[in-house]
Amino acid sequence: MYTLGINAVYHDSAATLVKDGVVVAAAEEERFTRKKHGKRPVPFSTYELPYFAIDYCLKAAEIHLRDVDHVGYSYDPYLLLDKLSHNGKIELPIEPSASPVPVEWESPWDPLFLSYIVNAPRQLTSGAPHHIQARFADTPLTGSFQWHFVEHHLAHAASAFLPSPFDEAAIFTIDGRGERATTTYSHGICNQITRLGQVNMPHSMGILYEKVTEHLGFLHSSDEYKVMALASFGSPAFLDFFREVIQIQGDGQYTIADFDLGESFGPARKKGEPFEQRHYDLAHSLQAILEERVVQLMEWLHRETRSPNLCLAGGVALNCVMNARIRDRSPFSKVWVQPAAGDAGTAL
Ligand SMILES: [Fe+2]
Repeated sequence: MYTLGINAVYHDSAATLVKDGVVVAAAEEERFTRKKHGKRPVPFSTYELPYFAIDYCLKAAEIHLRDVDHVGYSYDPYLLLDKLSHNGKIELPIEPSASPVPVEWESPWDPLFLSYIVNAPRQLTSGAPHHIQARFADTPLTGSFQWHFVEHHLAHAASAFLPSPFDEAAIFTIDGRGERATTTYSHGICNQITRLGQVNMPHSMGILYEKVTEHLGFLHSSDEYKVMALASFGSPAFLDFFREVIQIQGDGQYTIADFDLGESFGPARKKGEPFEQRHYDLAHSLQAILEERVVQLMEWLHRETRSPNLCLAGGVALNCVMNARIRDRSPFSKVWVQPAAGDAGTAL
């Protein structure tokens, strides 16, 4: 039985092919197109599927798309569509960002974004670039496979726990956002994953880190590693500020208060401008609060699971300095991080 996993919703588009539970091939689209992260995480790019990565996986197994039994897509639009669709229809104004945004939407582009995802099966069977169509040919428009929309953080959790060396482990996922969740806690036993809790939008450590990345003159959803490194030049001058902003609620929940970066830390640095001490201190304080709060969350997760083992995934788990802090300061004795902790790993 062949299962094809696809990540395409935001960025780091990727594909994985599994045969009877064994990974045959996995690849990120950027390796073929030479576009870093595959695409930018904007609604207009959501329709783009990682055709080259899929083609690579099919080629490795010497099969065609029509031979695939199951396709998993690491985002479930139906977790959000209930509020947006009426009788199977969603309305998209001609100029969404110039129109009033209904209160139940988060962005004026929500209908376009979700519509692209719902139509991904047909896009997969009919949208491959001309020169690689051979392995996609002769597949019925709606597919000869069974399609599964997988909740984004469940995909992250499975990508961390199932390939890990543990039969039982606590699982922590943390990223910018999935459908609603930004952080989840689970307990994995054999091939079962039980969700213990989750933090929902708008409270997101990942999005906070992205905003500071942008404020420091870097590309958000891409250059966060530069902020992590920049932190080593600074001091925790703003740590108390961030302690006020990010509050732990005691049951794995946390809140992040809204604040204006410009008002709090001065004007944003433009790309190419020299760094000042306040930039180093902002990066240092952000990194310090991330590590401090996540270790506190891991103390809660350990109390809930009583497991010695921890698995990590989600874009924030690409922060290796945070991961080292979890390894050294949290109650877990063994920590396993999914190497493709970002969205690419959700294809697995
Ligand atoms: Fe993610």
